[in-house]
Amino acid sequence: MPKKSRATGARRVSRCRVCGSKDLTLFLDLGETPLANSFLTNPDEREEWFPLQLFFCNRCALVQLSRVVDPDTLFRNYAYRSSSSGTVVAHLLELARFVHANLLGSSKDLVVEIGSNDGTFLKALKEMGVKILGVEPAKNMAHIANAQGVETLPTFFGSKEAQRIRDLKGGVKVMVANNVFAHIDDLHDFMRGVVTLLDDGGILSVEVPYLGDLNQNVEYDTVYHEHLSYFTVHPIVKLFDEFGMKLLKVVKLELHGGSIRLLAEKTTKQRPRPSFLAFEEKCGLTKLRTYESLAERVEYQKESLRRILEDARSGGEKIVGYGAPAKGNTLLNFCGIGTETLAYLIDTTPEKIGRFTPGTHIPVVETERFRKEQPPFALMLAWNYEKEIVMKEREYTGQFIVPIPSPRVLPKNA
Ligand code: TYD
Ligand code: ZN
Repeated sequence: MPKKSRATGARRVSRCRVCGSKDLTLFLDLGETPLANSFLTNPDEREEWFPLQLFFCNRCALVQLSRVVDPDTLFRNYAYRSSSSGTVVAHLLELARFVHANLLGSSKDLVVEIGSNDGTFLKALKEMGVKILGVEPAKNMAHIANAQGVETLPTFFGSKEAQRIRDLKGGVKVMVANNVFAHIDDLHDFMRGVVTLLDDGGILSVEVPYLGDLNQNVEYDTVYHEHLSYFTVHPIVKLFDEFGMKLLKVVKLELHGGSIRLLAEKTTKQRPRPSFLAFEEKCGLTKLRTYESLAERVEYQKESLRRILEDARSGGEKIVGYGAPAKGNTLLNFCGIGTETLAYLIDTTPEKIGRFTPGTHIPVVETERFRKEQPPFALMLAWNYEKEIVMKEREYTGQFIVPIPSPRVLPKNA
């Protein structure tokens, strides 16, 4: 294993990000890892390692990390790209059609997306004749979007930025924030920004990975430093209430191992509460003991995956990794799986190819190599796209090892 360098750029959290309570309990310790999306250009590079620990708020039930890494460090060299997965692109097109058909009143309405990445979603809306604006702090992604004609401000979003946009463009009818909430440290300033920018009757559409699914399917690998918070509907409603946003609807989504979309309206009128809150209470998602039991299941799952990989290795068979997602890096670092087990990982993201995985320093190569070499085993690190990948690799003669929800080896293709 490469040498560790001790973290300097991380702040300790002592209060809950939503309710401010100090009554936080540690329930899952994943050890230390480097930043999951900071792929290395050189395998001998030294990197910073940060503790990866999950806490439960005994007051509002928010699950959150104990450390906040400086966002500039996190997003400086950001490799995640929406358009690298067909599933995500299809999902974003479907959302664009939904927004266009249901949430917009006139052709003058402006849609602003926060965390607009490479502009995939806004581009689809723009092609439908909708006025759009993106806000994206990862400068490389904002650049890609602008180059495709999707106007994108290369900045973080908050109350100040919201006022600036309002002065420039006027009020907004629809705001979209997909996979953004989990990244935000100051959720209150973000919400202040939302209500500054939205017109009365305006809609906020938020998608977050769902903690209910993380818990049920033991998706501990979705825990990494970019994700500061892990949400159920409970703490989000608490936050919305503070800012006069009324929750209208909760939609369950399959994306990213299970997500939810919340639609909220800026209005002073009363709106009936969705029944999702009662469902969460019934599932125990507001209780500490549920998460303590999750921590036990995480340990069990790790051992079970290590056994499967050892069996595959003991036969002298070559194993590679399919996909180099951020979550794969949590999994590899936590389970202690490195170059002794995996020859390489393949990935379709141009920004990752030719680089090395954080912590484990496994080379990332093009998918073509996997297709040519047909290694006997492939650990599907991008397990959230299992269907898409199995379909795409119908010709693969080896076997996929799927690590989540419980590690298993898929049968060979007939
Ligand atoms: P993803 O699960 O979207 O996100 P995260 O990084 O947040 O964990 O990442 C999936 C990765 O898998 C992404 O780098 C693209 C890659 N990938 C492939 O290489 N081939 C594929 O067929 C698919 C579906 C994904
Ligand atoms: Zn709280």
